[in-house]
Amino acid sequence: MTNKQLITTIFALILLIGFSGIAGAGDWKTADTDGFHLEWMVDGENLNVKVSTETEGWVAVGFNPSKKMKDANIIIGFVENGTVTIEDHFGNSQISHRSDIALGGSDDVSNKAGTEVNGVTELSFTIPMDSGEQDDRALMEGETYKVIFASNRKDKITAKHNRRSSTMITL
Ligand code: HEM
Repeated sequence: MTNKQLITTIFALILLIGFSGIAGAGDWKTADTDGFHLEWMVDGENLNVKVSTETEGWVAVGFNPSKKMKDANIIIGFVENGTVTIEDHFGNSQISHRSDIALGGSDDVSNKAGTEVNGVTELSFTIPMDSGEQDDRALMEGETYKVIFASNRKDKITAKHNRRSSTMITL
C-alpha cells in the first residue's frame, strides 16, 4: 500500500466512524394512516417528531390516549403566512382538548418548525419522553402506543377536525 492509499483509507475510515456516530442518535421511523404521515425518532430523553397531511389549516398528533381523545398528549399547529404556531395540548375529555398552559401546566414542545407547501402542512418539533407533568403521560422507548391524528381546512385550532385517524406505533 502506497502512502497515498494509506492516507485515503484512513480518511475513509474516519468518515465512516463519524457517520455511524451520527446515525447512532437513533433512526427515523414512519407511519402512514388515512393521509396522515408521521415520522419519529427517540433521542435519549426526547422524541423528535414530524407530522404532515394535506391541509392548509391545522394538523395535530396525539400520543397515548386512554379513550378517543382523552389523556392524549396532543401537539397541534398550523402555518400562516410563513409563521409557524405549535402548541402543547392535552385531551381533557374524550371529545376535547386544552392547552397544557390553560390546564395549569407548561408548554414542553421545543424545536418548533413547520412548512406549508403545495397544500401540505408539516410540523416538526421535539417533546420530552417524560415531561414529569400531570398533563403528559410518560412515553418509553420500545413500547407500543396508540397515536391519534386530526386536521382542519382552517388555521383556527378551536374548530373541530374535518378529518381524523389513528394508528399504533412502537417508539
Ligand atoms: C376543537 C378541537 C376538537 C373537537 C371539538 C373535537 C371533537 C371530537 C368529537 C365530538 C369526537 C367524537 C365524534 C367524532 O368521531 O367525530 C371526536 C373524535 C375524535 N377526535 Fe377530536 N376533536 C377536536 C380535536 C382533535 C384533535 C386535535 C385530535 C388529534 C390529535 C382529535 C382526534 C380525534 C380522534 C382520533 C377521534 C376519534 C376517536 C375514536 O372514535 O376512537 N380531535 N373529536
